[in-house]
Amino acid sequence: MESFIIRGGARLKGKVEISGSKNSSLPIMAACLMAEGKTTLRGVPRLSDIDSMVKLLGDLGCHVYRHEAKESVGDGPTLNGPLDITVTEEKKFEASYEIVKTMRASICTMGPLLAKRKKAIVSIPGGCNIGDRPIDLHLRGMVKLGAEYHTQNGYAILEVKGRLKGCRMYLGGAQGPTVLGTINVMCAAALAEGETVLVGAACEPEVGDCANLLNKMGAKITGHGTPEIRIEGVEKLTGCEHRVIPDRIECGTFMIAAAITNGELELKHSNLDHLIAVVDRLEDVGVKVERQNGTIFCSSQRRINPVEMTTQPYPGFPTDLQAQLMALLCLGDGMSVITERVFPDRFTHVGELNRMGGRVRKEGSTAGVQGVKELQGAPVMASDLRASAALVLAALVAKGETKVDRVYHIDRGYEKIEQKLAAVGARIERVKER
Ligand code: EPZ
Repeated sequence: MESFIIRGGARLKGKVEISGSKNSSLPIMAACLMAEGKTTLRGVPRLSDIDSMVKLLGDLGCHVYRHEAKESVGDGPTLNGPLDITVTEEKKFEASYEIVKTMRASICTMGPLLAKRKKAIVSIPGGCNIGDRPIDLHLRGMVKLGAEYHTQNGYAILEVKGRLKGCRMYLGGAQGPTVLGTINVMCAAALAEGETVLVGAACEPEVGDCANLLNKMGAKITGHGTPEIRIEGVEKLTGCEHRVIPDRIECGTFMIAAAITNGELELKHSNLDHLIAVVDRLEDVGVKVERQNGTIFCSSQRRINPVEMTTQPYPGFPTDLQAQLMALLCLGDGMSVITERVFPDRFTHVGELNRMGGRVRKEGSTAGVQGVKELQGAPVMASDLRASAALVLAALVAKGETKVDRVYHIDRGYEKIEQKLAAVGARIERVKER
């Protein structure tokens, strides 16, 4: 088991390379199951979740090869070589419990398997620290496209005779649109007969990135990035080359790192257009955000104003940055209010921030954050990916030393975070438990 030891108080200053997006790479890798020939993906980060998807694709008859990093700086993040994915056999249909329990995004293989191999056997994801995460919308979409499905021993088993059939469907749920559900059904519809219209589709940049990949493979998708996506089904898809979009959540996390440490950071290979609602909140907090070409300049103005923030589906404030913003507002000059609309129970970080001297009170899906003069270092426990990022941010500014345990959570979604932070002045080290 590994932990981070962080001594707070250092002001962050310098350049950070933002990696390719985890949440775009995962569904895009799954979509490669539908392509004939090789697909080459650039910018895919090195993360434990990516390793899990590589394992799953291997189990499903794909050859996956990661090239050495040779790319020049101008051509995007230099950390990683391209990833080649080639389907070599199509006999398997199962995403096993062993894999799905470690990475929910394995669910993204459902649509591609069903569309290309006419069958999908996917373990139904279980409980999650961030709250209730059913897959009813994914299943509803597949059934609307003509699949038959039943559950057995914790698995969803879907089958279709012949091709899926395009149709017009509404895909919204109680908490609004579903990101991976939209991508899953969009992938399945890409090889269906006729046109599919997805109404109430998610508009996240990751949906658009996957649609762009599929269109390069020969699909006919329009309207991605809006709540109504049109997919004209095609007979086959062929491998292509694609660069995944920058990770907007990693970028937002580093913007908050600059703010919480009174720092100045240059975030390279980032896309500010994907973070408009985040910039809106940070500017109200008092953070200065500028952009030049593909670089974001983010600096604190030594003041943290209290704000109100409600998480929403894109283009609203992302739920994946809620915990990190809460860590910042723990040092706000007054009372802030945070409302979580996407995952109403996503507050596992509150208890740990209060252990560091925060004054956060949760009531239902809203938290009141009373700002304090300072946070204190303490031993804390990471519980999920974004909650652990919030604890690291709080530790960067806390008085004294913090030990963050279970950092395997953070390795799922942040590439070499301690190296990137140390390179701009943070006093952080990764330690192995004896
Ligand atoms: C994606 O999850 C992201 N994961 C999540 O990021 C992110 O928090 C989430 O979108 C929202 O932005 C990946 O891309 C791998 P949803 P997803 O389906 O698609 C409800 C991170 O930290 N819902 O858009 O699984 C659901 O319970 C992760 O990187 C249904 O009711 O999220 C939630 O309340 C965490 N039925 C809401 O919709 C369904 O069938 C939005 O969930 C599906 C979802």
